[in-house]
Amino acid sequence: MALVTTKEMFEKAYNGGYAVGAFNVNNMEIVQGITEAAKDLNAPLILQVSKGARAYANHTYLMKLVEAAVIETELPIALHLDHGDSFETCKSCIDGGFTSVMIDASSKPFEENIAITRQVVEYAHDRGVVVEAELGTLAGIEDDVQVSAEDSSYTKPEDVQEFVERTGCDSLAIAIGTSHGAYKFKPGTKPQLRFDILEEVEKRLPDFPIVLHGSSSVPQEFVNLINKYGGNMPGAVGVPEDQLRKAASMAVCKINIDSDLRLAMTASVRQYLAEHPDHFDPRQYLKPARQAIKDMVSHKIVNVLGCNGKA
Ligand code: G3H
Ligand code: 13P
Ligand code: ZN
Repeated sequence: MALVTTKEMFEKAYNGGYAVGAFNVNNMEIVQGITEAAKDLNAPLILQVSKGARAYANHTYLMKLVEAAVIETELPIALHLDHGDSFETCKSCIDGGFTSVMIDASSKPFEENIAITRQVVEYAHDRGVVVEAELGTLAGIEDDVQVSAEDSSYTKPEDVQEFVERTGCDSLAIAIGTSHGAYKFKPGTKPQLRFDILEEVEKRLPDFPIVLHGSSSVPQEFVNLINKYGGNMPGAVGVPEDQLRKAASMAVCKINIDSDLRLAMTASVRQYLAEHPDHFDPRQYLKPARQAIKDMVSHKIVNVLGCNGKA
């Protein structure tokens, strides 16, 4: 089994009323935790790498870790560039063996977004790689770009058809109220995704896979654990999981989750080191951290994505 594109995964997900999880990877323990969960649950999987992850871990190391996961799990796994910021970044990932790239020109004017997305699509499709594009702007932090809630904007359903036709992109990330990072919404508020926008988009793009970024739920128990063991995270509220499950049963075929893995891993390391102050072998604290990632991903596969048994 080699790395796959998301084409067949999305067709099955769309028709089956579930979504595939796209989890961010930065090191070996994260790759192992995610892929062990998917293997146990026989779930299709997208492993995604941000520009920051490539700068941290190096393209080749990440590529080889993901190739190792394909051999170990025998699952259909797509390797995806998350938030590609330029044609050059996308090209480098396509040339370097990724099977899917995102070109995120969502902060640019409509015509500019179309032009750069079209350029990436032409290069990618000639090489058998699929492309995710974005319309609308999410709030929150991605890489070192911070978008305030006031500057975020929902996707306009009247734009999506023209955008997809003119760019030829294979999937579309839309803004319906999700947000990047752990500090999505004010404590005490109840986030509500705009299902009316999703329905409108679905009507205008029948059978077309939609992507949701910023879909961590920020479980309070992990924030509490981090704070209990020496952390100092202020109040954080994420996207309710029941709303994500509903989106997954609609046209949403890919759901991006990173912050929840960070919370699980950090809570585990903090707890372990606080409880074992004399330990200093990294394997001792990274083993439960890897397990914490696995538990979180298993929970998402079963309770949010609904893709267990669908590999
Ligand atoms: O949406 C962004 C992802 O959470 C990746 O974050 O750019 O800090 O690696 P990063
Ligand atoms: P979260 O920060 O909500 O995990 O979103 C991750 C994401 O959208 C990666 O592209
Ligand atoms: Zn994102």
